[in-house]
Amino acid sequence: MPISSMPIKACVFDAYGTLFDVHSAVGSLQADVGPRYAELSALWRTKQLEYTWLRSLMQSYTDFWQVTSDALQYAMDATDLSDSALHAKLMQAYLELDAFPEVPHVLQVLHQAGIPCAILTNGSPKMIKAAVDSAGLNDVISHQLSVESVGIFKPDPRVYQLACDTLGLSAGEISFQSSNAWDASGAAHFGMQVAWVNRYSQPAERLPGTPAAEISDLNGLLGVVGVC
Ligand code: LAC
Repeated sequence: MPISSMPIKACVFDAYGTLFDVHSAVGSLQADVGPRYAELSALWRTKQLEYTWLRSLMQSYTDFWQVTSDALQYAMDATDLSDSALHAKLMQAYLELDAFPEVPHVLQVLHQAGIPCAILTNGSPKMIKAAVDSAGLNDVISHQLSVESVGIFKPDPRVYQLACDTLGLSAGEISFQSSNAWDASGAAHFGMQVAWVNRYSQPAERLPGTPAAEISDLNGLLGVVGVC
């Protein structure tokens, strides 16, 4: 069932964790990282997100590449893995993250159905271009939208507004997908129709903005937007 009577005119996707598996960076270098790889990867992601929220509150924006590098350095310090060569290799791996397995097919089906698919991400333009190139998604992604244009991170409403302005659509005409529940809440609170991609069976966030749909991976989106 479509999630609303208002027709969907575009699908907008979060990047990290939704289209691309952030843990594939450490995963690809597991032998170099050693037994604390899972702890390193989890802490890297946690700190990366915390730094976006904190920098927004501190009104001290810097691009997501720097935030990602700072978060990795913290995580390496905390796990006794500090090594500048390994840091550089992990940052390079972040430019070539694996897409989740269902992503190419789902984007292709939406594209063929005439529904534009865009990315809206904290990632810098350089990072997102590299990830899209590496995953071979250029033909099915119509817009790569970065928070860099507004100079603040999600879930600031100006970020979601960027998608509306660029696509020339109202919030309610956009289906937004994120595996990050707080991002899903942010977009729903802004007024988008949101499908929360709950890949890891997490509990719902207690935040303003309730996603209209919950799916376990992006295959579920095709039914949500009525393209099967
Ligand atoms: C992004 C983060 C939130 O891609 O995953 O914007």
